[in-house]
Amino acid sequence: MLKNDQLDAWDRDNFFHPSTHLGQFARGEAPNRVIKTAKGSHITDRDGNELLDAFAGLYCVNVGYGRQEIAEAIADQAKELAYYHAYVGHGTEVSITLSKMILDRAPDHMSKVYFGLSGSDANETNVKLIWYYNNILGRPEKKKIISRWRGYHGSGLMTGSLTGLELFHKKFDLPLAQVIHTEAPYYYRRPDFNMTEADFVDHCVAELENLIEEEGADTIAAFIGEPVLGTGGIVPPPAGYWEAIQKVLEKHDILLVADEVVTGFGRLGSMFGSEHYGLKPDLITIAKGLTSAYAPLSGSIVSDKMWKVLEQGTDENGPIGHGWTYSAHPIGAAAGVANLKLLDDLKLIDNAAKVGAHLNAAMKDAIGDHANVGDIRGEGMLCAVEFVKDRETRTFFDASDKVGYGLAAALLEQGVIGRAMPQGDIMGFAPPFCLTEAEAEEIAGKMAKAVQSVLG
Ligand SMILES: Cc1ncc(COP(=O)(O)O)c(C=O)c1O
Repeated sequence: MLKNDQLDAWDRDNFFHPSTHLGQFARGEAPNRVIKTAKGSHITDRDGNELLDAFAGLYCVNVGYGRQEIAEAIADQAKELAYYHAYVGHGTEVSITLSKMILDRAPDHMSKVYFGLSGSDANETNVKLIWYYNNILGRPEKKKIISRWRGYHGSGLMTGSLTGLELFHKKFDLPLAQVIHTEAPYYYRRPDFNMTEADFVDHCVAELENLIEEEGADTIAAFIGEPVLGTGGIVPPPAGYWEAIQKVLEKHDILLVADEVVTGFGRLGSMFGSEHYGLKPDLITIAKGLTSAYAPLSGSIVSDKMWKVLEQGTDENGPIGHGWTYSAHPIGAAAGVANLKLLDDLKLIDNAAKVGAHLNAAMKDAIGDHANVGDIRGEGMLCAVEFVKDRETRTFFDASDKVGYGLAAALLEQGVIGRAMPQGDIMGFAPPFCLTEAEAEEIAGKMAKAVQSVLG
């Protein structure tokens, strides 16, 4: 296609970009970038600049870009049957096959998968299923959902409420009243720097117990958490956290939703974060890695325990009043089937574990001793570097210094995309699983140069 010189003007005049400073963008004060092609871990913009995408889009292109197997599966499906709905027992070969493939990989106690399109809508589905479940069990008061500060669960009304980041609440009249937040399992930001990990887990448990006590366990339906906090800072939990939290939830008959939108299908080097940390969730949210973002598709995986009550509900009340036109869309399902096959055939989850560990080690070698590096942490193919003004006293920079954004821009100048996480000065890395060790070293080496250019 000939280069369209008006594209930049069309972009600024017509396109409402998510998570963007709207005024600056429309006025041309913030850059735009038009991505044209991609292969493996690299993307190329329309000016021909090639960039190493160390965040896999929005940590979703897990198998890497340019996989012809998935593109062909999508094309074949579109030619054979681009669409049919899934209401009142309808389905397609691919949507049924994909549900079986997901359940084969999910923890044994999971029973069925409901398909949506985004992580946000899957979590909206989860909340509705939780409310339905407690209504069927005759507990209409047991409805509140506990989420964690710094959790990210989407940006719809309910899911934006579950999200525990200020940016997603401010001026949107969120969070809604049915959502309450508790302490994030963020050891580096523990309230007292002298706390051990075990002390901090006790503190998180005490905070949760206090909240349940204040609100009343009979008003609380569920607890939602990402196995590893993602957008809130890429924070693996302290040892023993999930075991201790699950005990509290069991004691108070509170359901657990594992939001595995980021961790599902291999990001931690295991198929699911639930298996990685020994979680026994009642619902699992999946999206991103299900199709590696080749087509939009998400899911809510429902446990046996909840499924039995949902069946009872429809026996008593008729068909479940929940569904989207595009639930289980065959093109998304075809992408999902091809993507999960590719993960297996190329042993990409093993590679994520191996190269992810190499990336974390290389990052520590490259910048671990820098005076402004407070913490380097990761799990599987996830890595984060947290920057501080003073590492001895753990003094953070002012948000107005925008250190994280400055570092992301400096890294981009070196040809590498990392993500300045939205709260704190934290650079996040979540590359495709096909990353090589040499590429991992390149990310760390270029990060060292970026740090030097911004912080000296
Ligand atoms: C853990 C988690 N849950 C839910 C979502 C929302 O997914 P989506 O952006 O597809 O709505 C995200 C998105 O980043 C996420 O990281």
